Amino acid sequence: MALTVVDHPLARSLLTSLRDRSTPPPLFRLIAKRLALVLCIEATRSIPTTPTEVETPLERTGGTRLGPLVAVPILRAGLGMLEAVTELFPEVTVGYLGLERDHATFEPSLYYSKLPPLEGRSALLLDPMLATGGSAAAACEALKAAHPRHITLLSVVAAPEGIAHIERSHPEVDIVTASVDEGLNENAYIVPGLGDFGDRLFGT
Ligand code: PRP
Ligand code: URA
Repeated sequence: MALTVVDHPLARSLLTSLRDRSTPPPLFRLIAKRLALVLCIEATRSIPTTPTEVETPLERTGGTRLGPLVAVPILRAGLGMLEAVTELFPEVTVGYLGLERDHATFEPSLYYSKLPPLEGRSALLLDPMLATGGSAAAACEALKAAHPRHITLLSVVAAPEGIAHIERSHPEVDIVTASVDEGLNENAYIVPGLGDFGDRLFGT
């Protein structure tokens, strides 16, 4: 597993605003999208490319096409990262996985799954919070059943516990995150974290 912590000042500054409890949902959504753009650029640094040729106004020259790529946000919070991916890669196909963490056991349950063909494609799994890692691991399992070529998990904040969980259960999955935080509290929330991403994104 490759773990990349995006250590760009822009990422750090955007993350600081997301952590700030006084950031209201409309601004939270905007900043989450901007940070997802930064993460997505980093995550696609090593995706497969296809050589191609184009005619410039002057002559024929070699070029590169990216993909094919599939983006899969985990509902709800992953939706806050999706627009960044579709804007950067308009040809991306999109699937959805609905996973909800039980408040007492922290175990995820899958309540929705709609995936496009994944065979031979690179998948970007979008989930801003990697806490216990249970949700991301369950999502990787669902994706792997469809045989993608590769999976990269994009997270805004990751806990060491969640990273260890993915490394244990899906060692071939790469992770790109803006921060590895201290750990989890007794409610399995990431500390210092940024609170409940879905609630802050949707104002619930
Ligand atoms: C949150 C978050 C992740 C999950 C992380 O989702 O968006 O999917 O928790 O926790 P884990 O690593 O311990 O599994 P939540 O279940 O709160 O649902 P929501 O996105 O609909 O709010
Ligand atoms: N889900 C969140 O939204 N935040 C956390 O800190 C943990 C899980």
